[in-house]
Amino acid sequence: MSQKLTDEERKSLIDLANEARRRAYVPYSNYPVGAALRTKSGRLYSGVNVENAAYPQTMCAERVAIFKAVSEGETKFEVIAVVTNNGGSPCGGCRQVMAEFGLDTIVLMADGAGNLVKETTVHELLPEAFTPEHLK
Ligand code: THU
Repeated sequence: MSQKLTDEERKSLIDLANEARRRAYVPYSNYPVGAALRTKSGRLYSGVNVENAAYPQTMCAERVAIFKAVSEGETKFEVIAVVTNNGGSPCGGCRQVMAEFGLDTIVLMADGAGNLVKETTVHELLPEAFTPEHLK
C-alpha cells in the first residue's frame, strides 16, 4: 500500500465519498456512487453520479468531483476515493478524465461499508494513457 497516505486520511476520504453517495441521483440503475477528491493544495471535492431519463446523459461521480475541482481552478490531484455498494472500479471514461490531470493520482476503491477494496493509481488503471503530452 502507498506510503503517501495514512489510514486516517484513507478513512476520512472514503467516509466523505460514502456520505456524498447518499445524494446520488440514481432512479434508473439504483447503483449509487460517491467520490471524494483531495487536491495537492488540500482542498476537498465530492461528487455523485447523476442519472437522466435520457440514459447517455448520465454523469459519473468521479467526473462530477473532478469537474467541480477544475471549475474552481484546481487541477492537481493527490487522491480520489470512489465508493460503491460492491467496491466497483472507475469506468474507462473516468479513467481517461483522471489521466488528463496526472497519472500519479492515487485511486481508492471502497465498498458501502467503508472497506478499502483496492488502492492503485491512475497509471495502473490506464496504462499507456493518451495524455496532453501527446498533443504537444
Ligand atoms: N458510475 C459512476 O458513477 N462511476 C463509474 O466509474 C462507473 C459507473 C455510475 C453511472 C451510472 O449512474 C451507474 O453508475 C451505473 O452505471
